Amino acid sequence: MARGAGSSPDEDDVRDPEAFRVEAVARIRAAVPERTIVAASGGIDSTVAAILTQEALGEKARAIFVDTGLLREGEVEKVSAFFRESGLPISVLPAADRFLGALAGVTDPEEKRRRIGTAFIRVFEEEAEMFGTSHLVQGTIAPDWIESGGALRDTIKTHHNVGGLPKDLKLQIVEPLRDLYKDEVRQLARHLKIPQFDRQPFPGPGLAVRVGGEVTRERVAVARRANAIVEEEVDRAIEAGRMTRPWQYFAVLLPVRTVGVIGDNRVYGEAVSVRIVESVDAMSAVATTVPWEMLRTIAERITRELTGRVSRVLYDVTDKPPATIEWE
Ligand code: XMP
Repeated sequence: MARGAGSSPDEDDVRDPEAFRVEAVARIRAAVPERTIVAASGGIDSTVAAILTQEALGEKARAIFVDTGLLREGEVEKVSAFFRESGLPISVLPAADRFLGALAGVTDPEEKRRRIGTAFIRVFEEEAEMFGTSHLVQGTIAPDWIESGGALRDTIKTHHNVGGLPKDLKLQIVEPLRDLYKDEVRQLARHLKIPQFDRQPFPGPGLAVRVGGEVTRERVAVARRANAIVEEEVDRAIEAGRMTRPWQYFAVLLPVRTVGVIGDNRVYGEAVSVRIVESVDAMSAVATTVPWEMLRTIAERITRELTGRVSRVLYDVTDKPPATIEWE
């Protein structure tokens, strides 16, 4: 099932998902002598990893979902419901103060990722100790570690669950999906009959990488509403048959102030960039041609619902490469 770094996705390349499942369960049993915790984000990668771990270890595995305060609207409720539906017991851990505290005053994208990575690991170390294990299963996939400098490349971004690990790590990390690409994980998810496998990918560091500049509670709230508006309008356009579901569609709050006008008053607000891309495995992506009326509705809603905060909305037409999918 694994594919070499740099090769392109090709269905012929994907081995039998059933064979992968059997092997992965055996590898998890071999790697984990007794009990383990599993980092679950509600995303496809960690969900597949969690389901395989549960199959391997049953009650000796405990999935943990961390509420970082950097999640999308309604995400805690959606993820909890999703795991209930999948029959996977999960603990939700509220940790917004810890994450936002760790990010205070930080503007450098790599430093943000490192601090988020460290905060995640500290949370998991504490939880592992309480559960009586030193093992942590993660849903790391190939692009995560390739882009974190794991192969013959410079670090493009430190993925929070890879390069963001602190040096004094107390946990032993188990990564059953580390040789797979996104399309292969999706294929496996379908095979495992995991519901909602068509959810769009959402980065582990959450809205922090969609808030350019300092990540404050207030700026996260602006990015959260803008992201929800983009999702709602794309869903509406899909339902109306005006477009098909793109790979990813979201909003980014930029570290830019810009002049606007409300009635007779000048406002000095912020700018939001809308990003909608097509991709197969996230290693490359193309900016999508989308209905102009939908973009205008998004711009109108963002500037109205976030009036005084956001005075300008842009559409990002850059492919990956040269850009990346997320801004940071
Ligand atoms: P980039 O921005 O590097 O993103 O082109 C490629 C894909 O990965 C997602 N992404 C992440 N996923 N942890 C994750 O689990 C991360 O730190 C992370 N950073 C980016 C991104 O949304 C896109 O789908």
